[in-house]
Amino acid sequence: MTENKVDILLGLQWGDEGKGKVVDFLSENYDIIARFNGGPNAGHTLEFNGMKHALHIIPSGICHKDKKNVIGNGVLVEPCIFMEEIASLQEKGFTPKNNLVISNKAHLILPTHRLLDAANEKSKGDRKIGSTLKGIGPAYTDKIARVGIRVGDIFEKDFKERYENSKALHLNQIKALGFAADEFKVADKTLGDYEQLWFAALEELKTFNITNTEYFINSELQKGKKILAEGAQATMLDIDFGSYPFVTSSTTTSAGVCSGLGIAPTCIGRIFGTTKAYCTRVGSGPFPTELFDATGEQLCSQGHEFGVTTGRKRRTGWLDLVALKYACMINGVTDLMLMKIDVMDNFPVVKLCEKYSLDGTQIDYIPYNLDAEKMQPVYTEYPGWQTSVSKIKDFDKLPAEMKTYIQAIEEKTGIRVSLVSVSPDRDDTIFRNL
Ligand code: GDP
Ligand code: IMO
Ligand code: MG
Repeated sequence: MTENKVDILLGLQWGDEGKGKVVDFLSENYDIIARFNGGPNAGHTLEFNGMKHALHIIPSGICHKDKKNVIGNGVLVEPCIFMEEIASLQEKGFTPKNNLVISNKAHLILPTHRLLDAANEKSKGDRKIGSTLKGIGPAYTDKIARVGIRVGDIFEKDFKERYENSKALHLNQIKALGFAADEFKVADKTLGDYEQLWFAALEELKTFNITNTEYFINSELQKGKKILAEGAQATMLDIDFGSYPFVTSSTTTSAGVCSGLGIAPTCIGRIFGTTKAYCTRVGSGPFPTELFDATGEQLCSQGHEFGVTTGRKRRTGWLDLVALKYACMINGVTDLMLMKIDVMDNFPVVKLCEKYSLDGTQIDYIPYNLDAEKMQPVYTEYPGWQTSVSKIKDFDKLPAEMKTYIQAIEEKTGIRVSLVSVSPDRDDTIFRNL
């Protein structure tokens, strides 16, 4: 067995922690970057050389020409969105086709998965999840129900027949929910129009390197190649440990790396957990430290907290250490990566939630029913640093108040902060003793 390990980078909150930025930053230390979960619901942003790139299905190492990027079996591929990403990278002078490998076991998102996603949400009324409507829930449902269609199936003779069977199944499911299929659109198009685009994109997808990536990854690992697994979504959106049912439909935690890439648990190395210096959430569901005041607005406006995939405004709040500690435990985080701390540069006071008050009792764990309305966060206040930190390159030069805040996070979680990110740009990243 090889001594060489796969490192993991994933989100510890409700997503959008800045995973794309850190993966891009860390890529120079790795040979292969591999996505293991999620699909086009993800929106990972990279900024360097004055350019901004949004990625959804393609791993965030793609802008490094000499690195291989793997779309693992745990990922969902939507051909149109995939080809749009390819085109956007090509327009910017990148050649993604040369360094991309796609698992033949990754499942496809069909146009009717997206219609069904919209129908499911509509049927839930006030209890809707706030899905990105990319078809994630229905496509993973089909996978688990053993009726899904995989990328490798596009080369099979009976592909069209299987597609039509799935489509008929989905249309029936929409009808059973009490809707007519034509009530819903896919990316503002009728089903028929979108299907044409989808099949055209599928033909282009066929020309990519589609293979059994579990063999590729394990053999590269044996050869001593360095591999970084890139998570999508985050722990509090995990299908098991997130704020169910307001979650996504995949395993977003470190456990998902083994099943989503086909590597053994003994091959896991360091686990980098990203967290913002505050919290955000997009979509519905409990958010104990959510702010509804001017401070919350300030976090939103200074942090440009609008979704990369849907453009929706993100909800904002103080950093929740109870949730963060839970996420560190579930994932086995070895290193914390603290993102967007510059967003709080102007704040006179910053707060950390160390406990919740529930029915008059203080608790420091995530209760079975994470009912934010019944829970009051218990905060410790820290003085703000009130100076701009975006151009600081050295941890020791950070303001003393910020170091106290970071130290408090380290003490409460018991995990070292190995990286502090002080702007969206790749260069504005402080790396500590990694
Ligand atoms: P991801 O889904 O975890 O990759 O994160 P997103 O890309 O959805 O959202 C993070 C946003 O914050 C993006 O717009 C990034 O460019 C931006 N960002 C990342 N790190 C920093 C940082 O340290 N400071 C600031 N101000 N913005 C950051
Ligand atoms: P990245 O990788 C933030 C949220 C949606 C919704 C719930 C379910 O960019 O961090 P889905 O479309 O999966 O059925 O939506 O999960 N969600 C995300 N929120 N960042 C993401 O990805 C997300 N992916 C899904 O808003 O509440
Ligand atoms: Mg995102």
